[in-house]
Amino acid sequence: MINVNIRKQKNSTCLVNTTKEAVILKSTKFPDNFLWGGALAANQCEGAWNADGKGDSILDHVTGLRGSYSSIHEMNRGRTYTAEIDTEKYFYPCHEAIDFYHRYKEDIALFSEMGFKALRTSINWTRIFPKGDESEPNEKGLQFYDDLFDEMLKYNMEPVITISHFEMPMHLISRYGGWRDRKMIGFYINYCKVIFERYKDKVDFWLTYNELNHLHDNPLFAGNVLVHEGENPLEITYQAAHHLFVASAEAVKLCHAIMPAAKIGCMLSLSTVYANTCSPDDEFATFQLKREHYFFSDVFIRGEYPGYFKRIMRENSIKIDVKDGDLEKIKNYTVDYLAFSYYRSTTHKAGSDTFKKSGGVLGIKNPYLETTEWGWQIDPVGLRHVLNEMWDRYQVPLFIVENGLGYEDKINSDGLIHDDYRIDYVKKHLVQIYEAICDGVDVIGYLYWGPVDMIANSTGQMKKRYGFVYVDKDDEGNGTLERRKKDSFEWYKEVIKTQGNNILKILGGK
Ligand code: BG6
Repeated sequence: MINVNIRKQKNSTCLVNTTKEAVILKSTKFPDNFLWGGALAANQCEGAWNADGKGDSILDHVTGLRGSYSSIHEMNRGRTYTAEIDTEKYFYPCHEAIDFYHRYKEDIALFSEMGFKALRTSINWTRIFPKGDESEPNEKGLQFYDDLFDEMLKYNMEPVITISHFEMPMHLISRYGGWRDRKMIGFYINYCKVIFERYKDKVDFWLTYNELNHLHDNPLFAGNVLVHEGENPLEITYQAAHHLFVASAEAVKLCHAIMPAAKIGCMLSLSTVYANTCSPDDEFATFQLKREHYFFSDVFIRGEYPGYFKRIMRENSIKIDVKDGDLEKIKNYTVDYLAFSYYRSTTHKAGSDTFKKSGGVLGIKNPYLETTEWGWQIDPVGLRHVLNEMWDRYQVPLFIVENGLGYEDKINSDGLIHDDYRIDYVKKHLVQIYEAICDGVDVIGYLYWGPVDMIANSTGQMKKRYGFVYVDKDDEGNGTLERRKKDSFEWYKEVIKTQGNNILKILGGK
């Protein structure tokens, strides 16, 4: 166990604004105990989908990108869910992924070479409880994560563990309908109890779920809930959200009881959203869109349903079943920190449905920003904006647990991969994080998403590569899985080695 006290991190030399002190500001480093590292998710890297007693999870039923898509918005949520697994007919990218299950030692050695202080990954629920409603866990699954966490700790790498990253046992969905059923709370807490007891001496940082704020635009992944035709989708998803809130509160309580020194946070997907014009209608529609997402952190962090939720319920004929004691639990057991992913910003205008159509990813084209091949708008300043906005709103430590550039990297004739565009992307985002720290925001770490190439979540592609390490595999599943360093590998290593000081040089620091 590595002892990091997240509440002690302050950067007081940054809180100044005179010319003389601005010099001090520019030469200030990132905090000494800043958690530099990377982030993965079990379903996107492990593979071994049915090894050692593992059950099938919802994401083992999701295919790669299929068919043609009329717009980039559709492509960003282009994967198909099949109720039965049919490998003759479909390709399921998560089944093998990048085979991290068998190659994690090699990958972690590479991460250690870059100097990672922390590595985020998730536990695949179906390795521990293959169906989800059993009372006894699968020992082989538990042993795998013991070995994985030991490997990280061997290199002094703090494990940051997501309890459920977009997945749950398929059986819980087909038998109960996923989080729409209150019984999920019991199954989830049973799972938490087992992993908290088992890994209490190895893991200090926990995350309850991944990007729950995509529950409405992507219910199957973000909330593991199937919405049937003819149902009121908002009623189903808000009911699921209530169960997830109660389960989060119980998990926080349990976590603190079993591991008093550990921290447990919520995790959201945050993008700055700009109004398309300064018309009051566009401004207010944008404000409301943001609030639909902050709803989740409002409950997780403030411990209460926000006042504006009453109107949402009334106007959408939503009735949710709240049992005695639920609201007290939600109030009493709030999370310790806010973790989030940040990749892009979006633009919105009143009446537009482009944001929803792309699963909460894309909005209207912003003429001031460059976009990736997948239409994601690159906006480093937007990250400073989000950090400040979240700090102003909640005053809890903020942890960037995903940020990165998906790009179709090419191997040069000399066998090297010159990904200067990725270096540029990360550098510009780190500068803005530094600026936010100087603004007084408590940022505890930066975990780059996809330090090794993995399956893209939205499209199931391999060619949407994020890694500092290249993996030889294509979109059809062909390749040797060999790992190869890209140019960004040495660069990120230098960032960590100098505590970000090589970045700060461009701001005029020493
Ligand atoms: C986040 C998810 O939404 O974005 C990750 O938490 C995902 O699982 C990441 O991989 C990047 O998205 P994509 O679709 O490019 O993999």
